[in-house]
Amino acid sequence: MKGIILAGGAGSRLYPVSKIYSKQLTLIYDKPLIYYPLSILMLSNIREILIISNEETIPLYQKLFEDGSDYGIRIEYALQTAPNGIAESFIIGEKFIGSDSVTLILGDNIFYGNIDFIYRAMQKNDGATIFGYRVNDPERYGIVEFDGSGKAISIEEKPKQPRSNFAVPGLYVYDNEVVEISKNIKPSPRGELEITDVNNVYLQNGKLNVEKIGRGVAWLDTGTPESLLQASNFFGVIEDRQGLKVACIEEIAYYKGFIDKENFEKLISKIPNSLYKSYLEKVLKEN
Ligand code: DAU
Repeated sequence: MKGIILAGGAGSRLYPVSKIYSKQLTLIYDKPLIYYPLSILMLSNIREILIISNEETIPLYQKLFEDGSDYGIRIEYALQTAPNGIAESFIIGEKFIGSDSVTLILGDNIFYGNIDFIYRAMQKNDGATIFGYRVNDPERYGIVEFDGSGKAISIEEKPKQPRSNFAVPGLYVYDNEVVEISKNIKPSPRGELEITDVNNVYLQNGKLNVEKIGRGVAWLDTGTPESLLQASNFFGVIEDRQGLKVACIEEIAYYKGFIDKENFEKLISKIPNSLYKSYLEKVLKEN
C-alpha cells in the first residue's frame, strides 16, 4: 500500500498568510499541520509516501522531511502545477503508485482517536473504501446518502440540499483501478477533477465501501482561521492533560519500529534545544 498526501492548493481562505505561506505548514498547537495526516499514514504502517504540492511549497516540505529516512520511511515529492482537483493526485502519482493500491489523505485533514477503521479498510484488496462522518454543516463537503439498510446510494459534492449529514472525509483507500478511473473522468463545472466523481464510478461499479466513522473519532477541519484555532486548542488541551504528544512523527517512527534506538538518538541529537526535543528525550528515557 502506497500513501499520497495532497498538500497544495491556494489556501485563499487564510489570506493574507496564504500570500506567502502554505496552509499545511501552519502551526496546529506545536507542529505543522501536515504532521497530522503524515502521522495517520505512518500509524497505518504506510512507509512509502508521495507528497504532492506546488512549486513554492515542495522545497519547504523537503527541508522538513528530506527523503524520510530519518523516520524510517521513504518520502517522494511531486509537483501539481495548478489546483486541478483532488483526483489529479492519481495521475501525477501514477509512476509512484505502480501496481499497488493507494491511500490518499488530504494535507489539511486531521483525525484523532481510534483509527483502526483505516487499517481495516486497507486489508481489502478490491474496490475502494471511503468513510462517512456526521457533521453539522453538510453543504461544505462531499455527502453520502445511505438507504434503509445502511448501503451507500449516492455521493454529491457540496450539495445545496444535502441528502444526509454524513460527510466524506479526505481519506480514501483505493485499489490500483483508481489511476485509470481518474484519467477517464472529466473536469467538473468548477474545472476540477473531482474525487467525488471517482467515488461515483466505484459506486456505479458496485465496488465502493462506505464505512461510518463513530462519534469517538475526531475529524477536524482546518480551512479557516476559526477551525485552525479550534484544532490548536483541541490538541493543546489533550497534550497538556496527558503529557503525550499527538502526531509526533519522530515518536511514531520509534514506537512503530521504523527506526531503532540508535537512530532515534541520532534523530534527537539533530533537534535544537526546545520543548519538542525535551519531549523526545523523555520518550527515549522511558522506552
Ligand atoms: O475535507 C474533506 C472534503 O475535501 C471532502 O468532503 C470533499 O468531497 C472534497 O472535495 C474536499 O473538499 P474541499 O472543499 O475541502 O477541498 P479543497 O479544494 O479545499 O481541497 C482540500 C485540500 O487539498 C486543500 O488543503 C488543498 C488541497 N488541494 C486541493 C485541490 C483541489 C490540492 O493540493 N490540489 C488541488 O487540486
